[in-house]
Amino acid sequence: MGQLKSKIAGVGYYLPETVIKNSDLELLMDTSDAWIQERTGIQERRYGKAHEETTTTMGAKAAEIAIQRAGINKEDIDFIIFATLSPDYFFPGCGVLLQRELKINSKEAPALDIRNQCSGFIYGLSIADQFIKSGQYKNILLVGSEMHSMGLDFSSRGRNVTVIFGDGAGAVVIQPTDSDGILNTVLHSDGTYAEELAFINPGCHGGYHIGKESFGYTDQNYGGIFLTEKMWKEQMIFPNMNGPLVFKTAVVKFQEVILEGLQKAGLKADDIDLLIPHQANLRISQFIQQKLNLRDDQVWNNIQKYGNTTAATIPIALGEAWEAGKIKEGDLICMAAFGSGFTWGSVLLRW
Ligand code: ACO
Repeated sequence: MGQLKSKIAGVGYYLPETVIKNSDLELLMDTSDAWIQERTGIQERRYGKAHEETTTTMGAKAAEIAIQRAGINKEDIDFIIFATLSPDYFFPGCGVLLQRELKINSKEAPALDIRNQCSGFIYGLSIADQFIKSGQYKNILLVGSEMHSMGLDFSSRGRNVTVIFGDGAGAVVIQPTDSDGILNTVLHSDGTYAEELAFINPGCHGGYHIGKESFGYTDQNYGGIFLTEKMWKEQMIFPNMNGPLVFKTAVVKFQEVILEGLQKAGLKADDIDLLIPHQANLRISQFIQQKLNLRDDQVWNNIQKYGNTTAATIPIALGEAWEAGKIKEGDLICMAAFGSGFTWGSVLLRW
C-alpha cells in the first residue's frame, strides 16, 4: 500500500433559523443597507437563539450530518477537533462539550480545541491530515462553529465589526484514502498585528502588550483583575478590527498562500475546479478571483446570505457547494482563509 492520505468523507452544516437583515441592524446602530452591501456584499446573516443554542449545540447539529454522510456511526469518531473564536466557555473548550452533546463521551476519544479564528478550519484540516497520514486516527471529526451574536457590540461604536458577522456551524469527517484526497496544506502566521483584529477583554493580559493604563489597571502584584472597572464602564469588551489594514493584508496573503499550495502540487490556478475562499468580505473574494483569473463558476461565495461565520465559513460553503452538485469526484478543490492573528492558510485536495 502507498503512503496513507486523507480525504473528506462527509460534510454537514447548520444555520440557525433567525435571519437578520441589514435593515434590522439599521434599527440598532448608525448603519445602512446600502453601506453594508456596497462595502461587504452582505445582505443578511443568521443568529442563533440566545440561551437555547450555543457554539457547541450548533456544531453538534452540523457534526451529525457530516457523520451520517460519511457512512459511519457517532461512536466511530476517534478524534475531535473543534475550531471557534466564540466558545461557550473560556475553558474547557467546545471539543469536550461537543463530545458530551453527541453522547459519545463513553469512548473517551481525545478532543482538541484550536483558536485560529477565520483560518481555524484550515488549521484543523491540516492537523487532521497529519494524524490520518501517521495512521493514528481513522475517523476524525472536525467542527467549525460560531455563535458570534452573543459577543458583538450592537451600538454604533461596534458597527464596522458587528455588521459583518453571522452565526453558523460546519463539520467534516476525515478518513484515510488510497487515492489523492488532500494534496497539501499550507499554514502561516504573523503576530505583528495581533491587536488589530482581536477580542482582548476580559482576559489575563494585565495590560502587558498595550500598557496597563489603557485598560484601567492600577499597580498590583497579584491577579484577580481579569476584568477592570474601566473595561466594563467603557464597554471595552467587544471585538475590534482595523478593517482597512486587515483588508489590504488579506488580499495579498490569500493569493500568496493559494499559489504556494498550487506550486507545491505542480498545479496552476486554472486547474482549480472550485475555490472556496473564507467569506470575510465579497470584495476580498472578488479581488482574489480577478488576480487568479478565475471564472465566476470556479469560486463559491455565500457571504451575501450568512456574513462572516469565521471558523464555520469554509465547511458551510463546502457543504452547500457539495449539495448543489458543484463538487464531483476528482475535482480539484482549493480552500483558503485569512484572519485574526494574523493567521492564514490553504488546503488543496482532490475530491
Ligand atoms: N455602517 C456605516 N458606516 C460604517 C460602518 C457601518 N457598518 N462601519 C464603518 N463605517 C464608516 C467608518 O466609520 C468610516 O467613516 P469615516 O470615513 O467617516 O471615518 C467609513 O465607514 C469607512 O470605514 P472603513 O473602515 O475604512 O471602511 P472599509 O471600506 O474598509 O470597510 C470593512 C470596512 C468592511 C470592515 C473592511 O475594512 C473589511 O472587510 N476588512 C477586512 C475584514 C476581514 O477580512 N476580516 C478578517 C476575518 S475576521 C476574523 O478573523 C475574526
